[in-house]
Amino acid sequence: MMSEPARVRLRRPDDWHLHLRDGAMLRAVLPFSAAQMGRAIIMPNLVPPVRRTHEAVAYRERIMAALPEGSRFTPLMVCYLSDDTDAADLLAGHADGVFTAVKLYPAHATTNSQFGVTDPAALAPVLEAMEKAGIPLLVHGEVTDPEVDIFDREAVFIERVLAPLVARHQGLKVVMEHITTEEGVAFVRANAPLVGATITPHHLIFNRNAIFAGGIRPHNYCLPVAKRERHRLALREAATSGEAAFFLGTDSAPHLRSAKESSCGCAGVFNAPVAIEAYAQVFAEEGALDRLEAFASLNGPAFYGLEPNEERITLVKAPTEVPAEIAVPGEGAVFPFLGGERTAWSLAPDA
Ligand code: DOR
Ligand code: ZN
Repeated sequence: MMSEPARVRLRRPDDWHLHLRDGAMLRAVLPFSAAQMGRAIIMPNLVPPVRRTHEAVAYRERIMAALPEGSRFTPLMVCYLSDDTDAADLLAGHADGVFTAVKLYPAHATTNSQFGVTDPAALAPVLEAMEKAGIPLLVHGEVTDPEVDIFDREAVFIERVLAPLVARHQGLKVVMEHITTEEGVAFVRANAPLVGATITPHHLIFNRNAIFAGGIRPHNYCLPVAKRERHRLALREAATSGEAAFFLGTDSAPHLRSAKESSCGCAGVFNAPVAIEAYAQVFAEEGALDRLEAFASLNGPAFYGLEPNEERITLVKAPTEVPAEIAVPGEGAVFPFLGGERTAWSLAPDA
């Protein structure tokens, strides 16, 4: 076997699925993504959600104002699709370079999805307009039917909602966000290149046992919920395959410890502080470090029709201590993914 390189250089990655929140939380978490990523697709599930162009412009300004000095991070804004989406405003916002994509949350599927879509089939006119304009649809792929077992909600969504939607809108670009199952991997492969998928670091690193390891582990609870081991292995195979349909999207989703460590804890893993290190570890374990750049830095921009970043980053095989918690001044603290542990890989300081 070839020995593992102790250092990898790649174009600066982008995060094609990121929750930055707002206010004190935004200011606390943004520097971590800005230190690693060139661009990020910013999830619009604020309260109230980002539905109109003027709301996205204002949110983008708040993000820019919260950036550390000298940062070159670019937020790419997303319109939150609802039953009453204003198609004219969406198209104008896209034409003006404000909206990069549109996010479909099935109503009540996850955090702040109460304004989401109740019947995706009823949105055909908006989706047709998006198809013509080349605007990607980003999908939270879980059914909300309480009769469906939580571990089956992604597979059932593909069957009941996504496959018919893709069949109706054959020219629409669709990203199945944060896939968690082998059914997700197979669906994306069968429908590439217009269908792609993001994969999170945590779904590559743990399976559903991690939610119940010795007791209930609220910091490992996210949606879609982690599945059984064979699904994690399918995700690792897809991410490290180098195939253009699979790209980096952390779904870093910070919640205060008080909101997660509760009798009804919020879903979300805050992985921004260690995202690229965690992916590097997975690719190293799979003997696929030579394909990390495709997954992290090339496939996403190609899908979105953007150029990859010119800047390079260097990852070195050296441990980094992950802080056990990150303060959110005035509000509390968040617990990061792998908090209190050491990562095997580190991001070298910018040259
Ligand atoms: O775990 C999750 N957290 N999944 C989502 O879909 C939403 C996210 C959040 O906003 O907290
Ligand atoms: Zn998300």
